[in-house]
Amino acid sequence: MIVLGIETSCDETAASVCKHGEIVSSIISSQEIHVQYGGVVPELASREHEYLLNTIVNKSLKKANIDIKNIDGVAVTQGPGLSGTLLTGICFAKGLSQGLSIPIIAVNHLEAHIFANFIADPGLEYPFICLLVSGGHTQLWLIKNVGKYQLLGETLDDAAGEAFDKGARILNLGYPGGPAIEKSAKGGNHDAIKFPRGLINSESFDFSFSGLKTSLLYYMDDYNKNNIEIEMNDIAASYQEAINDVLSNKLSKAVKKYNIKTCVIAGGVAANIKLREKIFNLLPNKKVIFPEVELCTDNAAMIAFLGELKFKNGEQTNLDFAVLPNLKMKTF
Ligand code: KG4
Ligand code: ZN
Repeated sequence: MIVLGIETSCDETAASVCKHGEIVSSIISSQEIHVQYGGVVPELASREHEYLLNTIVNKSLKKANIDIKNIDGVAVTQGPGLSGTLLTGICFAKGLSQGLSIPIIAVNHLEAHIFANFIADPGLEYPFICLLVSGGHTQLWLIKNVGKYQLLGETLDDAAGEAFDKGARILNLGYPGGPAIEKSAKGGNHDAIKFPRGLINSESFDFSFSGLKTSLLYYMDDYNKNNIEIEMNDIAASYQEAINDVLSNKLSKAVKKYNIKTCVIAGGVAANIKLREKIFNLLPNKKVIFPEVELCTDNAAMIAFLGELKFKNGEQTNLDFAVLPNLKMKTF
């Protein structure tokens, strides 16, 4: 089966072709326009998608060397995400579905992030634990099979990606915050400042990052008022370390408690190299999978891949489906 995937949940306009479970093209255009505003401006993001979608889809088909008439189905992100941006992708996909008389499938963006790990490692076996760390979500899942997911814990306030983004804003490092903090932290001493590690000693698998962000705010206030002598890379490294400590600690506790052999990391924050190192060090005897960076951050390959999997399982969506900006993953 040949499936075209379309992703427009935030500020990446992306299209991909998946052919018999293999990604044959994946085109991503990251919208630069938001950098000057220090964050995504939803209205501008929707307009950019509208402007770019046709070109990105055509590029993806061309790269895959596939004529649009040979597409067997279209998969599109239904949510979660920004309602206006999601709508651009959904309308485009519905038009294709109707115009080409092919089935459509509405895909959950979070579920697709998790399944990107099957693209990274086709030998991935159930059950596995997934640390899902994107811009808006921080969750620990026990994945038992397609559609059989148990939520073990999640953030009670800010997501880890949000902590990176807000931290970068406080430190004036730019947007998106994760890569900016990672870059600034290079060569820094991560023990320079002891930032709080929310809920690290709690038995639960829930997370909390809002105290960390406040603590950075207070620290920078003090730094500016009292001319504290410290390098920016020490501050960034200490802040990054606090986030990564909590994430790796909770993941490793969950893997051990549920006695699971494999764990995977999904979502944009999984691109962080120090996080990767920490998790590998904490779980030397487990199989740990991180997708390549392009598959961690938003992309359409994960949408096309999961779409094809679901089509093959006999699923498809009625054309009148709605955009779901707060779509959750069902837990069993
Ligand atoms: O999954 P994603 O691309 O989009 C959402 O679905 O939200 O995740 C975006 C998040 C942002 O908060 C961004 O700062 C963070 O992932 N991120 C990183 C890195 N690259 C992206 N965080 C830490 N280190 C990185 N290298
Ligand atoms: Zn995402």
